[in-house]
Amino acid sequence: MLHRCLLLLAACALVGNAAATGSEQKNYRLYCMGCHQADGTGSPANGIPSMRDEVGHFLRVPGGRAYLSQVPGTLHTPLSDGETAALLSWVMVNIGRGSVPADFQPYTAAEVKSYRASVPDDIPGLRVKLLQELEQQLLAR
Ligand code: HEC
Repeated sequence: MLHRCLLLLAACALVGNAAATGSEQKNYRLYCMGCHQADGTGSPANGIPSMRDEVGHFLRVPGGRAYLSQVPGTLHTPLSDGETAALLSWVMVNIGRGSVPADFQPYTAAEVKSYRASVPDDIPGLRVKLLQELEQQLLAR
């Protein structure tokens, strides 16, 4: 009997995990992939930057973490703050991969909510500024 209960628990844990990762991947396909491509390489020639092995670098400069949740693509989904937080965290780990700092903490719903409430006017300008700061950081090494 105990054995059976344990088996059931193990099965539930597996199903629970699969559901969690499945919905982020599904949301990425639904809301992001059209522009960013399945592998996150985007279409730089058409102004869609590659996120693959790159996007995590933004987490290294002040304001970068907020920026990633304030770009129009992330902002204008019908997803809740919590779902957006999970999706962004999924993007960092699965698409940003090695570019993501080792101490990366997943986005939280409260964080996304506050970033959404304070979106800067000039997002493309902010992107340029963040990239300049990143360059400075690399040069200073
Ligand atoms: C209509 C096309 C489009 C869709 C759909 C889209 N994006 Fe984007 N995304 C862009 C463009 C273009 C940029 C470059 C920044 C800018 O100009 O806004 C960008 C930038 C980003 C960035 C910052 C990367 C960088 O290098 O600046 C992140 C993170 C991001 N998008 C995440 C998402 C997520 C997550 C979704 C899905 C929920 C999504 N995007 C949907 C077009 C899109």
